[in-house]
Amino acid sequence: MSVASHLGIRLADYDRQIRTLIPNYADLLEAAAATIHPGARTIVDLGVGTGALSARCLDRARRARVVGIDADADILRLAARRLGPRGTLVRGSFLRTPLPRADAVVASFALHHVRTRDAKRRLYSRVRAALRRGGRLVSADCHPARDAAIADAQRRAWITHLRASHSAARAAAFLRAWAREDVYVPLDDEVALLKSCGFRVEIVWRKDAFAVMCATPVTRSARRTGGARRQSRREN
Ligand SMILES: C[S@@+](CC[C@H](N)C(=O)[O-])C[C@H]1O[C@@H](n2cnc3c(N)ncnc32)[C@H](O)[C@@H]1O
Repeated sequence: MSVASHLGIRLADYDRQIRTLIPNYADLLEAAAATIHPGARTIVDLGVGTGALSARCLDRARRARVVGIDADADILRLAARRLGPRGTLVRGSFLRTPLPRADAVVASFALHHVRTRDAKRRLYSRVRAALRRGGRLVSADCHPARDAAIADAQRRAWITHLRASHSAARAAAFLRAWAREDVYVPLDDEVALLKSCGFRVEIVWRKDAFAVMCATPVTRSARRTGGARRQSRREN
């Protein structure tokens, strides 16, 4: 399904409309881009969309280039216009497209399209293998609380945001339509999943159901040292 029909908006209007759909959209992207090392040379953007996150990353890493992967040919045309010669755009699924060696792999509101935890695990393992030493995976997305009452309050906050720009019926219709397609993994579970794939995780931004995670591969020697430390704690 194309981005426009999934979100229920016109593609030409994407950059304006997305802010009415996702609370604090610009802050989330800024927080994600702020984790990029200024010396980064290659950044891969999974589900690049119109290139909004990539453009912020390129502002921060002045010598970097972006490889943006997206399944939607129409949205890639907008990304191409925005990123110019610093962007290489690849049409395809980021679940299958080979990932180039990278200093950072980033994603904003794209990984909730991965339907199963097994598929997510495979993706994270491929990302880990693609990252250069010192590289990181950064994702901004919806990760509600596991606690039902807190998750409910977070959902109400999201509806309040939608209602600032849309009618009650339209806001409810958006959430109903996305619920059929999107998988919002609770933050705790997502962190556990990343750790099981060999990452250390920092939450660099969080408000209501939305978060930015920065995941760094744990090196073999750090794993060995961590294991030894745990062993010596057990013995003491
Ligand atoms: C909600 S949009 C977010 C776009 C952009 N990253 C942003 O922050 O505005 C999700 C994007 O991910 C893309 N996408 C979803 N699943 C994908 C997949 N498996 N492979 C490639 N692109 C995918 C969609 O085509 C869409 O452009």
